[in-house]
Amino acid sequence: MLFYCLSYANFKISNRKNLIKFILNNKEINTDKPSASLLLDFIRYHRHLMGTKIGCREGDCGACTVLIGDLKNGELQYRSFTSCLTPLGNIHGKHVVTIEGINMDDLNPIQQRMADASATQCGFCTPGFVMSLAGFCLSDKEATQQNAVAAIDGNICRCTGYKSIERAAGKVAELMQQKGDQEVLEFVTENQVFPGYFTGIKERLQKLSLQLNGELDKQDSSMQFAGGGTDLYVQKPEELKEASVHFLYNKDVLKGIRKTGNKCFIGPSATVTDLQESEIIQKYFPNFNKQVKLISSTPIRNMATIAGNFINASPIGDFTIFFLALDATLVLSDGSEMRELPLRQLYKGYKTLDKRAEEFIEQIWFELPGEQTLFNFEKVSKRTHLDIASVNTAIQLTVISGTITEANISAGGVGPIPKFLEQTSEFLRGRAVTEEVITEAIDRAQKEISPISDARGTAGYKRLLLGQLIKAHFITLFPEIAVEKLLLSHNIYDD
Ligand SMILES: Cc1cc2nc3c(=O)[nH]c(=O)nc-3n(C[C@H](O)[C@H](O)[C@H](O)COP(=O)(O)OP(=O)(O)OC[C@H]3O[C@@H](n4cnc5c(N)ncnc54)[C@H](O)[C@@H]3O)c2cc1C
Ligand code: FES
Ligand code: FES
Repeated sequence: MLFYCLSYANFKISNRKNLIKFILNNKEINTDKPSASLLLDFIRYHRHLMGTKIGCREGDCGACTVLIGDLKNGELQYRSFTSCLTPLGNIHGKHVVTIEGINMDDLNPIQQRMADASATQCGFCTPGFVMSLAGFCLSDKEATQQNAVAAIDGNICRCTGYKSIERAAGKVAELMQQKGDQEVLEFVTENQVFPGYFTGIKERLQKLSLQLNGELDKQDSSMQFAGGGTDLYVQKPEELKEASVHFLYNKDVLKGIRKTGNKCFIGPSATVTDLQESEIIQKYFPNFNKQVKLISSTPIRNMATIAGNFINASPIGDFTIFFLALDATLVLSDGSEMRELPLRQLYKGYKTLDKRAEEFIEQIWFELPGEQTLFNFEKVSKRTHLDIASVNTAIQLTVISGTITEANISAGGVGPIPKFLEQTSEFLRGRAVTEEVITEAIDRAQKEISPISDARGTAGYKRLLLGQLIKAHFITLFPEIAVEKLLLSHNIYDD
């Protein structure tokens, strides 16, 4: 068994009396504000930078979007964040860019394209859109309109309709197409897309990181663990502001995705975006990026960690369902002792975990699928994008000479916990992939679940959805099977 050998002292992080240091636009900040208080409030009420707007305070509208620059393997990388869910502790040692930080003497070229395309009316949402597009300009994404539009998937506008904003995004993509092979920061500063001070930020962050060594290492035992904050700060923002928090998000030792033999090891603080950008994940899960588009939005994916998704214990947590089908194992630590726990054994009841308060996830690992192993994830929600699931499910099947030799199937939204469908998985093992087996598997799954009627659908609808999504798994993984009969056969379930 391979563990990162960690000294607990390395990441017992932060209590609220620590000094937080970061660069805000072009200015170095040292603040003794509580490290669990929110970046949005700091920006507006302590720095009086009013361009960053307050909308929902729940990560949904994007009005508060800022860019966070961080050094990753020595390279400066910017990502969009919703500042309403970002504690100061998570930006320690980083570069925070608000709309004021990309202002030029005249309109910034991104703002100019928004104005030219009539993409702004009341203007409330506009700084958020501009910051998301600024994040696109600084990313290494190909400069296409599609990618520029994808970058604003976390921004809502209530005035314009989106077509004019999409046109503006297309024009920003055209601007970035002129970059060619030039280094991005060089291009955007030379062409006055971003102010010149951006060229010095990497060196300033390097100097800052040297000063930070050993800081924020105080702790007390009553501390709350925090990852990206995208669940915590929606659930209890007021309570947290003054609380003592262990910030796990910033610790490089808790990040990273690596392969050793046939195992994949994931740091608990790896974000969804880290997974999307991982060559290992891209190689073994070629549909991952397509599937992930159904999950939250660009800024939330930039912040949300995998461990946070597991521990939140939502019965519809998308990554929980994903990793249940991969039969992932958690390495839990309380700082002195470690134990392994299969993810499927973590959930004991609604939001009740087989985990002590002082235990945190130190690592996640799973066996990478072999050549004969197939994987699929399906999700249905009321709205296609930026919505939580009504029902989600994942499946992993190993099929040798037409026989299923190994099967793991999971389902969310169909009971009080994210569910590993043990009996359905057991039933599938040793069977051939036929319409009859699939139909019987759906019937077995129905016996394992206990959905309730709520805002996301009636119990009967969720039963029906799970049945259809199990069919979708097989139709996706085995395109050669005759689907007509399968699609027509379904039962209506009582609510
Ligand atoms: C607008 C919006 C859209 C969303 N859409 C989706 C969606 O489509 N699908 C979905 O599944 N979720 C969604 N979420 C929920 C959320 O983004 C995810 O659950 C995310 O993975 C949580 O990770 P985090 O790092 O932000 O967790 P945090 O909020 O930081 O923490 C959540 C819990 O995990 C604990 N924790 C974090 N790391 C550790 C660790 N290493 N060890 C022990 N405990 C730990 C914390 O103490 C806390 O109890 C959405 C949230 C928002 C705000
Ligand atoms: S205020 Fe709506 S996403 Fe932050
Ligand atoms: S311009 Fe008014 S909300 Fe977008």
